[in-house]
Amino acid sequence: MKLILLGAPGAGKGTQAEIIAARLNIPTISTGNILREAIRNGTPIGLQAKQFMDNGMLVPDDVIIGIVRERVAREDCANGYILDGMPRTIPQAQALEAAGIQMDCVISIEIDDAVIEQRMTGRRVCSKCGASYHIVANPPKTEGICNACGGELVIRKDDKPETVRQRLEVFHRETEALKGFYEKLGKLKLVEGNQPIEDATRDIMAALGIKA
Ligand code: AP5
Ligand code: MG
Repeated sequence: MKLILLGAPGAGKGTQAEIIAARLNIPTISTGNILREAIRNGTPIGLQAKQFMDNGMLVPDDVIIGIVRERVAREDCANGYILDGMPRTIPQAQALEAAGIQMDCVISIEIDDAVIEQRMTGRRVCSKCGASYHIVANPPKTEGICNACGGELVIRKDDKPETVRQRLEVFHRETEALKGFYEKLGKLKLVEGNQPIEDATRDIMAALGIKA
């Protein structure tokens, strides 16, 4: 199963990717998490990406395409994977096709802009593994600590309201057109994102034709 999760910032891509990856026993590839790790480690890619991310802008396509092509070639991707946050532009989607990377299904998690800001203000992410929590909708078992790896939970730098607004604008301008791209390929399925986490998971599994 090769699956793309599309959606606005805060739609729940990361949250759903973690749950579905565990159920299907395939890895989830989050370009956002990979870039944040690169920034923490001070790698050349991290240094290049930081300014773009802090300002809510997209990182250049060639950087992203390079990261994803290298990642999907690894052994753990042999039985499939979930792409969370990639592609984000038409050229990124075209690069996947050109590399012969055929996706089985593209799920767009649909959500109104109005809901997003409240989600972002309550979000906490693990500083070690990148897992996403919400102080009300999805709290960790122990405050401030990641359930999965024990890492410290922090607020993402790009979750400031003005940066969230910028990311939303970029989504509507650059990323939303991917729905039409994948609809033409007959791969697009829409799922309602403004519902409890487990209900969105159920709808994604149903869209994939898998019994929950
Ligand atoms: P990235 O990390 O991908 O951020 P994003 O797309 O803006 O999406 P988010 O991670 O903010 O939201 P999400 O949909 O994963 O929501 P989550 O599950 O956390 O990218 C960051 C930056 O990296 C970009 O701005 C760009 O600079 C760069 N980048 C990354 N990929 C790139 C690419 N391909 N090309 C170019 N640049 C790239 O949920 C949000 C919150 O809501 C959480 O607190 C969660 O607990 C809560 N929540 C989730 N679902 C529900 C629900 N159903 N009900 C209530 N609360 C919920
Ligand atoms: Mg995410």
